[in-house]
Amino acid sequence: MAILKIARMGHPVLAEMAKPVSDPKNPGIRNLVNDMVETMMDANGAGLAAPQVHVPLRVVVFQAPSERADPGLGEDEQYDHTAPLTVLINPEIAILDPTPEGGWEGCMSVPGLRGWVERPAHIRYRGFGLDGEVIDRVARGFHARVVQHECDHLDGRLYTSRMDDLSRLIFESEIRHFQKAG
Ligand code: NI
Repeated sequence: MAILKIARMGHPVLAEMAKPVSDPKNPGIRNLVNDMVETMMDANGAGLAAPQVHVPLRVVVFQAPSERADPGLGEDEQYDHTAPLTVLINPEIAILDPTPEGGWEGCMSVPGLRGWVERPAHIRYRGFGLDGEVIDRVARGFHARVVQHECDHLDGRLYTSRMDDLSRLIFESEIRHFQKAG
């Protein structure tokens, strides 16, 4: 296992369309995923996409722990809002409710910054796991946000290109000034 070098905003690999994986069970994909998970954990990140480690393939890893979900959710509500550490290969997203919801996002390829991004808050996603099994889930809240953020990387998009108010692109050390305003 190894901690991989992260491509930062401006590197062309982040603007490419990533290619589908032909065989999710290929050992090379498992090695890539192991290194991506280690790299994400080392940075305390919520998600990482293969193009961010200079590999233009349709592979993402993410997690949506209960600490990141909205406080005050009931136990059954929490289900769609959380996800364990997940590997998703060749993912596809369907928007179940286009009503946008705003939230702060960060990205290992845009270090030190946070941006306020509006995204649909209710989606369904499908893809394959490392054993070739189908993953098919409904996601809401932070869970829906992290999946959309990571899958955007596969289409060459960073969260900054989803922002419509760049006054809300800030250094993370200044986020306290915004927290009351939401
Ligand atoms: Ni990112």
